[in-house]
Amino acid sequence: MILLDAKDSLPLYRQLYDRLRARILTGQLPAHARLPSVREMVHDLGVSRNTVQGAYQELYAEGYIYSAPRSGYFVSSLDQDAAQRSLKPASHAPELQPEPAAGCRFDLHPARLDPGSFPGEIWRKCFIDSLRKHRDALVAYGDPQGELPLRRELQRYLERSRGVVCEVGQIVILAGLQQGLDLVAHLLRDSHRVVAVEDPGYFMPRAVFGNHGFQVLPVPVGPAGLDLEQLAAGAGSIAYVTPSHQLPLGCVMPVASRLKLIEWAESGGRFIIEDDYDSELRYHGKPIASLQGLRPDGNIIYSGTFSKVLSPALRISYLVLPRVLLAAYRRQFRDHFCTVSLLEQQTLARFMELGHWERHLRRMRTCYKRKHDRLLRAVEDHFGPRARVTGQGAGLHVVVQLVGAAPGEAELLRRAAREGLRLYPASDFYLAHKPQGTTLLLGFGAPSLEEIDAAVALLSRICA
Ligand SMILES: Cc1ncc(COP(=O)(O)O)c(C=O)c1O
Repeated sequence: MILLDAKDSLPLYRQLYDRLRARILTGQLPAHARLPSVREMVHDLGVSRNTVQGAYQELYAEGYIYSAPRSGYFVSSLDQDAAQRSLKPASHAPELQPEPAAGCRFDLHPARLDPGSFPGEIWRKCFIDSLRKHRDALVAYGDPQGELPLRRELQRYLERSRGVVCEVGQIVILAGLQQGLDLVAHLLRDSHRVVAVEDPGYFMPRAVFGNHGFQVLPVPVGPAGLDLEQLAAGAGSIAYVTPSHQLPLGCVMPVASRLKLIEWAESGGRFIIEDDYDSELRYHGKPIASLQGLRPDGNIIYSGTFSKVLSPALRISYLVLPRVLLAAYRRQFRDHFCTVSLLEQQTLARFMELGHWERHLRRMRTCYKRKHDRLLRAVEDHFGPRARVTGQGAGLHVVVQLVGAAPGEAELLRRAAREGLRLYPASDFYLAHKPQGTTLLLGFGAPSLEEIDAAVALLSRICA
């Protein structure tokens, strides 16, 4: 007996569909059982013909039932175990919910941006401009390598500000480092098996290359960046590096080491992936020029992103491929589409073309320099000799090593969580090696100046 509820907000045809579907999935209506004719169902339920036809058509369209000429509708044959499971509510649903942020008063995440920093109004105008200008282009797929106006703007910017020497044909627009590394893994996996990564270093490259079946080889990082002797002694033939602002330690690879690294790559058909993720954010002097610019024809894959200065949510990044990889890229990715929305690309191109990017960059440098300086002052005031700061002067975080009788890392994180302070230990970035003592990354991008003061004061108190 099927009961429908006329007061339910769900339309009657949908209720009938649901009831029949449940009976089919539970086996109450077995395979090849005949469904009552539309006329019988109309009569039994007292509903309109449209209601029954609507439900039957939907069940038919989704394959729950089939029709036989002049005989009516019959239940399709389904794998009964699988069918039953699809009726059960997913038992893991709560895990899909984001972690509640409640209880966190201060979050010193090393990669968060200032909450008010996105230039929403200007972006909106550029977006509307692009929509008007490129409306006709919206009915087709864009350039697989990324929209030309954006690549042109990028090429000029990279040459002027990062010393990158390339042509627009070498630039590929992507939706983040992860996709860039995926692409590199596809291009190099036939001839390379071992990727050397910085230890400590960013976790993402390890994961991406590991997922592609590469062996991931941790190489220690010293005050001058990646230890080149250890690199040369290992089997790695691809090196992933952050030479202009090492993540997480913040050191800069000096030019002598850069040249050695380039030689290492060139002498054995090896490759360097230069992740230049945040070098726009340098607070004293000029940004460090890129490694790629030292040898534009070298085996250097340059990676950049808009995530650190503009927005990580936009998901716009880019690779500059070395010429030696262009033919392979075109062959392997000829049939791929660009994953970044055409409108967002054109909006960004317009944003850059009108000079907003340069202005925004200057504003962001000023904003983060104030926060950076305030953090250093707060650490000095509250910790004095109890803390050693390194990696300052750039990016969105500094590294603070606790000196003397400080609590261990686990105990400190427990105390911090109790007080609503979210901390990020440097140990999370290590693979084979471990940091000395308790070392933290203190991010200053998101908190206000007052929050920076309060968070460091609290940290000092719970370290005592
Ligand atoms: C070392 C490094 N590279 C790149 C990125 C950003 O990459 P994406 O362009 O995927 O946002 C991050 C983000 O935190 C990073 O830490």
